[in-house]
Amino acid sequence: MPWNLNSTHAQAGDIAQLVGLRHKHFIITLVPGGELHTHRGILKHDDLIGRPWGSQVFSHQDSPFFLLQPSLADVLTELPRNTQIMYPKDIGFILSTMSVGPGQRVMEAGTGSGSMTIALAYAVGPEGRVVTYERRPEFQQLARKNLTRLGLEGRVDFKLGDILDGFLETDMDAFFLDVPNPWDYVVQVRAALKPGGFFCNLVPTFNQVETLLYALRRTLFAFIEVCEIMLRYYKPEPTRLRPTDRMVAHTGFLTFARRIEPSNDARGRDLLKEAGALGLEEKGEDEDAEAESDR
Ligand SMILES: C[S@@+](CC[C@H](N)C(=O)[O-])C[C@H]1O[C@@H](n2cnc3c(N)ncnc32)[C@H](O)[C@@H]1O
Repeated sequence: MPWNLNSTHAQAGDIAQLVGLRHKHFIITLVPGGELHTHRGILKHDDLIGRPWGSQVFSHQDSPFFLLQPSLADVLTELPRNTQIMYPKDIGFILSTMSVGPGQRVMEAGTGSGSMTIALAYAVGPEGRVVTYERRPEFQQLARKNLTRLGLEGRVDFKLGDILDGFLETDMDAFFLDVPNPWDYVVQVRAALKPGGFFCNLVPTFNQVETLLYALRRTLFAFIEVCEIMLRYYKPEPTRLRPTDRMVAHTGFLTFARRIEPSNDARGRDLLKEAGALGLEEKGEDEDAEAESDR
């Protein structure tokens, strides 16, 4: 596997990261006879193959570099893309909130450039399965290439199709929906999830979240949460520790929910209301009262 984080030495076919002065870095696949051309000189792959990870190496101009294995975050941040992609900041929280882990069957739409697909495939491990839908073949092609480069394509079923047509899959553990109009597809997503399964969506505006919330409540999703993840880096200088000058201020809002199976028993009504799984029209006066108290 080209990206085996358990290995100790760089081998031909591995994904490697070269980090030079001022944090300039490159992610490459090591190929016998290959060369990496940088503005600080050339590094021959043959001089890198066989070295322990973490070694210091030098270009033909004697510029220093470190030879490392890229982290998941490095791989995702540098991903070749032709769509908006998901970033580690949001992905980490999504994976833990949806409990995506070894052996699980998880789903995603749309695939885009495959950033989230990589994270899901990494998290479910060799025993798990990721099913990802995309309607544009050229995007699917790049995503497949990105997964193949890391040796993760064997964990993924790439499906070409429109979400509107529904999914063949059922009883999936979790579903990540990354499209601009998620509210149009909650019925299809619900049908693919197992009872109790996890749902997550990321959209960049409040307006989109609002429309999604109405749709989720109408479609028997509950335990709905909306949040955003803020991440601020610091300059790691012990004598003048302070935030970096720039930060990514906004990526998107995350909406989480669970597929629930309510009974018709009147005794369950209060809990249904509390979990947010009654349609707004059914909440009636309660809803008006809540809106009043928000002002
Ligand atoms: C923002 S991108 C997804 C990025 C992806 N999560 C990643 O991390 O690389 C949205 C993708 O959804 C696809 N898409 C939008 N509507 C769709 C639909 N109805 N059916 C299938 N794919 C759709 C788009 O073609 C696009 O590739």
